[in-house]
Amino acid sequence: MAAQASSPIGVFDSGIGGLTVVRALMERLPFEDIVYFGDTARVPYGVKSRETIQSFTAQITEFLLAHDVKLLIIACNTMAAVAVETVRAMSPVPVLDVIDAGAKAAVALTHKGVGVIGTPTTINSNAYARSIHALNPAVHVYSQACPLFVPLVEEGWLEHEVTRLTAREYLKPVFVEQIDTLVLGCTHYPLLKPLLQEVAGPGIRLVDSAITVAEQTATLLDRLGLHNPQRHAPEYRYFVTDVPLRFQTIGGRFLGRELTHLEQVRW
Ligand code: DGL
Repeated sequence: MAAQASSPIGVFDSGIGGLTVVRALMERLPFEDIVYFGDTARVPYGVKSRETIQSFTAQITEFLLAHDVKLLIIACNTMAAVAVETVRAMSPVPVLDVIDAGAKAAVALTHKGVGVIGTPTTINSNAYARSIHALNPAVHVYSQACPLFVPLVEEGWLEHEVTRLTAREYLKPVFVEQIDTLVLGCTHYPLLKPLLQEVAGPGIRLVDSAITVAEQTATLLDRLGLHNPQRHAPEYRYFVTDVPLRFQTIGGRFLGRELTHLEQVRW
């Protein structure tokens, strides 16, 4: 079906981390309806195989397309890294993803080189380096997996000494490289921005893919004439496959507001 301006934007992630993208969208595009899907029963994806992630991603894509979304946003870096082609092959509506958005922002900002941090699957896929080099082959890219950041963020240890020490350890080899830009290549990392900026120092600029993909969405809606013509309070729906312990608290932290209207999908 052709995309309708009054339809919602579909956003999906392996869990609740993608709510950082929803939050950026709410701020940038306050009149757009959003349907979010978080696969909270099967998270984390960042340590799973490519085949498993592709099959889960196809299932989620089908679900959101059945909700007549006008645009799909892959908020999960891990899914964008290994399953973007799966989504594009299935989708009759445009598809945006955090890796493409982050790579473009990094290339526009850097003068020296780019550091990329993400989950092991994202980093092993080399997807960020490929996207950056497709835009400018001369940019030096150094990538580092930071698997402990996801649980630390979910624990709420955003300013904790353990997180600071972990960040110093992970980022030590990154800072040895000649970089001036650091891509936060995981849904959870925007919550660590103040701590990471402190560890990185003022000479390194952080790229928040949530903000950059929201910016890309606004530009695409402009170009396609797909902004929601209705100017009343938007509708937000959140579909999840499980409602684990402390979900509301953790989700609210990502979203920056209370997480209500949760709907559980049983697969
Ligand atoms: N959403 C994932 C990402 O952005 C992090 C959580 C997970 O491993 O599933 O890479």
